[in-house]
Amino acid sequence: MNDQADPAPEPDQRPQGEETGAEQTSEAAAPAGEAPEPTTITVGDGGGSGGQALGYDVVVGNGLLARLPEMIGTQPERVLVIHPRALRATGDVVREDLENAGYKAVVAEIPDAEEGKHIQVAAFCWQVLGQNDFTRSDAVVSVGGGAVTDVAGFVAATWLRGVRVVHMPTTLLGMVDAAVGGKTGINTAEGKNLVGSFHQPAGVLADLDTLLTLPRNELVAGLAEVVKCGFISDERILEIIEEHPEQAQNPHSAQLRELIERAIAVKAAVVGRDPKEAGLRESLNYGHTLAHAIELAERYQWRHGAAVSVGLVYAAELARSLGRLDDAAADRHRSVLQLLGLPTTYRDDRWNQLLEGIRRDKKNRGDQLRFVLLSAQGQPATVEIPDASILYATYQEIAEPETAGPVSL
Ligand SMILES: NC(=O)c1ccc[n+]([C@@H]2O[C@H](COP(=O)([O-])OP(=O)(O)OC[C@H]3O[C@@H](n4cnc5c(N)ncnc54)[C@H](O)[C@@H]3O)[C@@H](O)[C@H]2O)c1
Repeated sequence: MNDQADPAPEPDQRPQGEETGAEQTSEAAAPAGEAPEPTTITVGDGGGSGGQALGYDVVVGNGLLARLPEMIGTQPERVLVIHPRALRATGDVVREDLENAGYKAVVAEIPDAEEGKHIQVAAFCWQVLGQNDFTRSDAVVSVGGGAVTDVAGFVAATWLRGVRVVHMPTTLLGMVDAAVGGKTGINTAEGKNLVGSFHQPAGVLADLDTLLTLPRNELVAGLAEVVKCGFISDERILEIIEEHPEQAQNPHSAQLRELIERAIAVKAAVVGRDPKEAGLRESLNYGHTLAHAIELAERYQWRHGAAVSVGLVYAAELARSLGRLDDAAADRHRSVLQLLGLPTTYRDDRWNQLLEGIRRDKKNRGDQLRFVLLSAQGQPATVEIPDASILYATYQEIAEPETAGPVSL
């Protein structure tokens, strides 16, 4: 077995400054009845310009629309707002606000969710940009979940070889994951996210008010990525969920806000040190090897977060089987995820299909299967699996007969 260390931020701390690549500023205590001040988490070291380099802010708070012009900057004259049909009202408000701030704002309404991540949708957006004379100094704004972030980021990365993009994520997953880190992508007939590029945003506005309309299942699914950040880095995330499982799922609560901020800080710290997925960033893939295999087996009818939840439990069981992780840390995976109502088992008749998916994982090298596993709380590493039979044996720990099996969210 061969380990590659994935240094992660210290547990029990919000990542700070250069050491971790993320910096977090100001969370003023709010007077009773008033929303607290927004929190700013800076990704990277502040170098570079034009949305092409690290050094951008992720602002988390309520009622953040007024901050959008500040993030877009004074250089752009035209701004394309890309949003899905489902968020037309929000998209309209954003457009009006930009017009009032003096920009020429144009809207591209795109199909919802994965339907939006198509080359034809990107081509439609390029057409809108072309017809409205967008130049290299103009900008794109995404308003929506991770699917919109991905396609809008891709459009911004490719128009005139790269224009500024600001993300306004409106799902929990978008806030803590898709909008941070600069990965963009679209799907092809051969699979998800096969085409894309790295294109760092100029900034991210995570307005917590948008979560008020998000269906509960989407919110809870997004929490699986938050839990992942707890296990790979910030144990306080796990404690908050254990102490306040209901509040963790309440978009009005201070606890959910803190969970979001902490998860963003974990991701920001990792991508700040590894912007193009050269190695360190593999720690963010914790739980994702089996998760991607489940998504494939389910033809993407399961929410990503539900699959990640099962994948996290499997990774913990695998680490336990290999003698890397103690019982308490392994058991904690199942208990924290169950507190949120996330699935922790998968059907027992699908192993061959899952193994096929595991073999396609991007972390593998040749025939060598690789998983991100913990050796302790907050200690992820990429581990080569010497003998694939242990994967099947471990699967028995999470397999359920189909009739008694889990429902995806
Ligand atoms: N680039 C990255 O680093 C990265 C990371 C993780 C995931 N992703 C991508 O993100 C996508 C999944 O993102 P997602 O989970 O946000 O799903 P999504 O974007 O498909 O949104 C889920 C659903 O919620 C609706 N919605 C969004 N915001 C809403 C709101 N505020 N109120 C009511 N409804 C709302 C959407 O219209 C959609 O129907 C996948 O395509 C995945 O590949 C990318």
